[in-house]
Amino acid sequence: MLLLGFCTAGMVVKKISAMNSRISSFLGGNSGAWRVTRMDLIIGEPLPAVRFVTIVPGAVSEGDAAWILRGITSNERYVTRDEKSELVAKQEGLGRPAARCAALIPIKKSSAWWTLSQDDRRKIFEEQSTHIKIGMGFLPAIARRLHHCRDLGSAEPFDFLTWFEYAPSDAVAFDDLAAQLRGSPEWGFVTREIDIRLELLGS
Ligand code: HEM
Repeated sequence: MLLLGFCTAGMVVKKISAMNSRISSFLGGNSGAWRVTRMDLIIGEPLPAVRFVTIVPGAVSEGDAAWILRGITSNERYVTRDEKSELVAKQEGLGRPAARCAALIPIKKSSAWWTLSQDDRRKIFEEQSTHIKIGMGFLPAIARRLHHCRDLGSAEPFDFLTWFEYAPSDAVAFDDLAAQLRGSPEWGFVTREIDIRLELLGS
């Protein structure tokens, strides 16, 4: 284990591992590259309100932040080959200059979800809820990255940290997307969700 103290975007943080490049830490606090414009509790226990969010590569264990959430990008669980081809053809990456808005949406699902078989989860996720079909309609305007928390093996408070970037002119479309997904059977398994909207500081 590597312990490393350093300063990022005005925050002093301590990393427990700089080794895994797929891990990201999201720090909510009083400074950072992303300014919080809205923080809505959708369901479950809230997170303390913060003014800024910083994203740090690697697993940060402590820092002068109100909260630190960690997740890791991973292989896909549900997409079919055809869906994957369509996603790859339509989606755009993070960091586009025009995409100055972002959403960080940490999500936890119930134990009922996790005890289902993979087949049953896929049925609810896509055949019943059309998560991918709905999402596909918002590409390439919305860029996304899914971080898994359970795979880290530590006591993370959420199962997923979902991250989205879009231009200010697509903010209403993003609200529509989130509302459609929240009305689906899949969301019946969501026990904790906080919708944090952000804007990028600087030029
Ligand atoms: C641009 C629109 C979107 C697209 C194209 C999209 C696509 C996908 C795909 C393909 C997966 C499955 C990954 C896998 O196979 O493991 C996924 C998972 C997920 N998405 Fe989305 N999504 C979109 C928007 C959203 C939004 C707005 C939310 C939250 C409000 C969200 C929350 C999630 C969650 C929590 C998972 C993990 C589900 C699980 O493994 O149980 N997605 N998404």
